[in-house]
Amino acid sequence: MIKRYLLAPGPTPVPPEVLLAMARPMIHHRAPEFSELFGEVRENLKWLFQTQNDVLILASSGTGGMEGAVGNFLSPGDKALVINGGKFGERWGKLCKTFGVQVTEIKVEWGQAVDPAAVAEALKKDPAIKAVFVQASETSTGVAHDTKALADIVRPLDGTILVVDAITALGVFDLKTDAWGLDVVITGSQKALMLPPGLAFVSVSDKAWQMAEKAKNATFYFNFKKERESQVKNQTAYTPAVSMILGLQEVLKMLKAEGLEAVFTRHARLAHAMREGIKGAGLSLFPKKSPSDAVTAVSSPEGVDGQAIYRNLRVQYGITAAGGQDHLKGKIFRVSHMGYMDSFDVIMTVAAIEMVLKGLGHSVKLGSGVARAQELLIVK
Ligand SMILES: Cc1ncc(COP(=O)(O)O)c(C=O)c1O
Repeated sequence: MIKRYLLAPGPTPVPPEVLLAMARPMIHHRAPEFSELFGEVRENLKWLFQTQNDVLILASSGTGGMEGAVGNFLSPGDKALVINGGKFGERWGKLCKTFGVQVTEIKVEWGQAVDPAAVAEALKKDPAIKAVFVQASETSTGVAHDTKALADIVRPLDGTILVVDAITALGVFDLKTDAWGLDVVITGSQKALMLPPGLAFVSVSDKAWQMAEKAKNATFYFNFKKERESQVKNQTAYTPAVSMILGLQEVLKMLKAEGLEAVFTRHARLAHAMREGIKGAGLSLFPKKSPSDAVTAVSSPEGVDGQAIYRNLRVQYGITAAGGQDHLKGKIFRVSHMGYMDSFDVIMTVAAIEMVLKGLGHSVKLGSGVARAQELLIVK
């Protein structure tokens, strides 16, 4: 027997009480019982998103929310600025092209965060740009872009919206949707929301809704206006993922009981201990600055294949982490500390990394990283 541990940056572990909530008998989505449930989760999502605006709930993975964010606000021929600092930034560019949107890309070296001055410069150079697309947390590199700084640049521009992929950011660190003026914020269920994959969530500002009024791209399943018409009545346009919404009700109760600040502090504390533990084991972090509190990307030591570390963690110790993507394959591996995680997930992961490295013949002082993580996680 091998006991399994899920430390990938999504899907993340689902708490037992959430699993139980999802196992409840099916209810019909046009019955009053569903509307009541839907009304409750809609209110609590506003709290989580720090917004007064509606948060649409879609039955799709996160990319469905991203697709809708391009299709509903822009028209073919419109201009967009895409911040591409990794696999998911690249996805914004592909989505824009699919919808005939003209893309200006700011290419950010993988492992670096975007320089907000470069965004300000690009917008000044081309005032026709209607939307800026960014990742709050670029999961492929473990970097957090400075969303607030970008919002400060975009907010004063009447004809431009900021669209934030917060798929590994929302519920991990602070994103003040209304206070900072984030026009469109997207997340998915299988990350900090501690649910299985299958739901996407999108908040939309008044400025973005006004843009949607003029947009001419064709959407059907991801038509946000149509969804909103239903969702404000606590209905959905199509059959919702009912069991997932029962799980979401439980998750939102848990998060509310903990409090938003405490949720952010928990993630920051675990992320810090993971980073320090990994450094304590003699490894270096892939992001040079601005690491995301959702996921830690680790550079594989000289002469050791990152894919072998990732594979051995899973095969030898039952820990599913993640490897590097594209040109980072073999060069990095990634471990998550997002969602239903605690101190011992961090300690176990650092311990297993040390053991894998030793097993691969790399020189490592066993316990050095673990001791560092333990120091930081002692409850005083
Ligand atoms: C930052 C980011 N954006 C987008 C996605 C895509 O989400 P999904 O796989 O749920 O479609 C992911 C998934 O890992 C992600 O981490």
